[in-house]
Parts: sequence; C-alpha cells; structure tokens
Amino acid sequence: MKTELTTDPERAAAVIRRGGLAAFPTETVYGLGANALDESAVRRIFAAKQRPADNPLIHHVGAVEEVRTVAKHIPSSAHSLITHFFPGPLTIVVPRAECIPTAATAGLDTVGIRMPDHPLALSFLQAAGCPVAAPSANRSGRPSPTDWRAVRDDLDGRIDCILQGTATRVGVESTVVDCCGEVPVVLRAGGISLEQLRGVVPEIQLVAGRDEALRRSPGTRHRHYAPTIPVVLIDDPAEIQVAGEAAYIGLTRPQPADAFVVTCLCPDVTLYARRLFAFFRESERRGARRIYCQRVDEAGLGAALMDRLARAAAGTASSKSER
Ligand code: TXA
Ligand code: MG
Repeated sequence: MKTELTTDPERAAAVIRRGGLAAFPTETVYGLGANALDESAVRRIFAAKQRPADNPLIHHVGAVEEVRTVAKHIPSSAHSLITHFFPGPLTIVVPRAECIPTAATAGLDTVGIRMPDHPLALSFLQAAGCPVAAPSANRSGRPSPTDWRAVRDDLDGRIDCILQGTATRVGVESTVVDCCGEVPVVLRAGGISLEQLRGVVPEIQLVAGRDEALRRSPGTRHRHYAPTIPVVLIDDPAEIQVAGEAAYIGLTRPQPADAFVVTCLCPDVTLYARRLFAFFRESERRGARRIYCQRVDEAGLGAALMDRLARAAAGTASSKSER
C-alpha cells in the first residue's frame, strides 16, 4: 500500500469516508484514524499498529454536539468536564452508544471520547462527518509520534494517508477520566492536570493502585514505550558519570553539555513534555547507548511527564530481566 502525504484535511477525510486509515495531527500527539462506525476499518487500525485487541480506542469528534452520537448518556461530571475542557487534551469515558462496534471499545460497554483542540484536526473530523476512532499513530510499543515524520517512520506502507501538520504542541497524550462511577477517576495522566480537573469537579480521584488501574484502564496492561536503550532517571545531571554515547534531557544543563550525543535542555516542564518523544526517537537514531532523563516535580503537567518517564524507565528494567 502506498501511503499518501497530504496537507488537505478534505483529502484525509475522504480516506476515512471510504473505510481507509488516515493519520492526523492533534494538540497532543498524532492519531491514526478510521470511521468508528465501520467495524472492518476499525479492525485495520489494530492490524496496522500491531495493537493488542483488548486495548480500546478513543473516539474523536469534531463538535461538542457529536458526543451524543457516541455516548449512551452523559453523566453530570462528564457534562461539566466537556463544558470546561472540550476541545482540549482530555478524554472522558462514558457509557457506550449501541452504534459503536465493540471492536473499537475492546468489548467494553464504555467509550472514550475526545475533541482535539487543533484547527486542522477539527477541519478533518468535521469533513469526515463521523466519529473517528484513533489511537496514537505509532507502532505498538514505540513512542507516540509528535510530528508527521515519526508517523511515516512507523507506519509507511501500512496506512492510506498522513495528514501533515506541524509538530504537536502538548507532546504527551490526553488525560483519560472515567466518568461512569459515582466519583470520576483519572485513568491516565495527560495534557489536562489533576489541579485543572479539580477546579471543575473537586471530587475527582486518581485511580487507586495498580490492580484498580489494570482493571479499569486496559491500556496500562500493555508494555509502553520500552526502548532497547536503557533509560535512567536522575535528579541532577551531576550524578551522570559516564557520558560516552549517552543522551540527556532535562531542565538543568549537564556539564559538559557537548559530552552527549543528544542534549535536550528544556527551559520548563511544558517544553520538556513537548520534546520528550521526539528526543527518544532521536536518541535511538543517533545510536545513544543510555538515555538520562531528569525527574521533575509532579505538579501540573509534571505528573503526566513523570508517568511517561517512569514507564520508559520501567520498560528498560523489565526487558533486562526478561533476557
Ligand atoms: O491524546 C490522545 O489521547 C491521543 C490522540 C491521538 O487523541 N490518543 C491516544 O490513544 O493516546 P491511545 O490509544 O494511544 O491511548 C488510549 C488510552 C488507552 O490507555 C486506553 O486504554 C484508554 O485510553 N481508553 C480508551 N477507551 C477506554 C475505555 N472505554 N475505558 C477505559 N480506558 C479507555
Ligand atoms: Mg498510544
């Protein structure tokens, strides 16, 4: 299959309407979309990404009113979150409308819904005229793509089209909040912080413990980005002893900065989150043998950033013990 590159949202939407797969930019990361109402198109997403079938997809809408076509009903907490954060880097999990094929929700009777805050994404979704089921547009186990070249590196020849936009602004995926229970629960930290959520729905909780996370959030069951190169988390770059063929990302300048094959010095946590996944990919390309990442405070966006750093570092540890 030849993968078409286009900057025209109407062309990418036409691919969706005829049952194909189109990658598209959002404010978080690039997504790999299919018509959510077309079961065979949805199945092709899982095949292209080599994604486990028990990991449900987020349904993207181009207008707030479209949420009603995907959800069976909208709990009041979800209603408040939609009012304050749509469009934006937030996914709400609510009871699933019957028109949604179960392949897209991995057999669950709930559905994740999100409206991206990105003009090109919204033009594309509105032109598609249907909810678009879309995971991040990477091969399973790779870092989420934050620019269209990363999508092409992972999926060229496996999907119909890539809608080319600029590099994504947020850089980590959306926050996922389950609104089905009495108390809404954050299943995945992301672009909207817990502090922001609590400003609107004060009773919101973080998912309690690993077992509960595994039960309620199928995505956390799977191996996340686990680089072949060891990822080491540090508090201060002065801790780094051997810099040979290592890569570094953080807020504090390492000494000497030119001792690393890749150095990504970030002025603040927002830019750290924006650059992290591209940094991982570049470190691999440049042949780094070890990746050092500076820890950050878990306040605000720092919680999502630390979640992704911890998963990358844990992936390293588990792949070592498997060998
Ligand atoms: O920012 C994002 O969320 C990006 C862009 C493309 O929108 N999408 C994304 O999709 O990160 P993906 O498939 O890589 O991650 C979706 C996460 C997974 O952890 C999945 O388990 C969870 O959302 N999820 C989706 N539907 C769910 C549901 N019904 N119940 C619980 N968790 C759900
Ligand atoms: Mg993903």
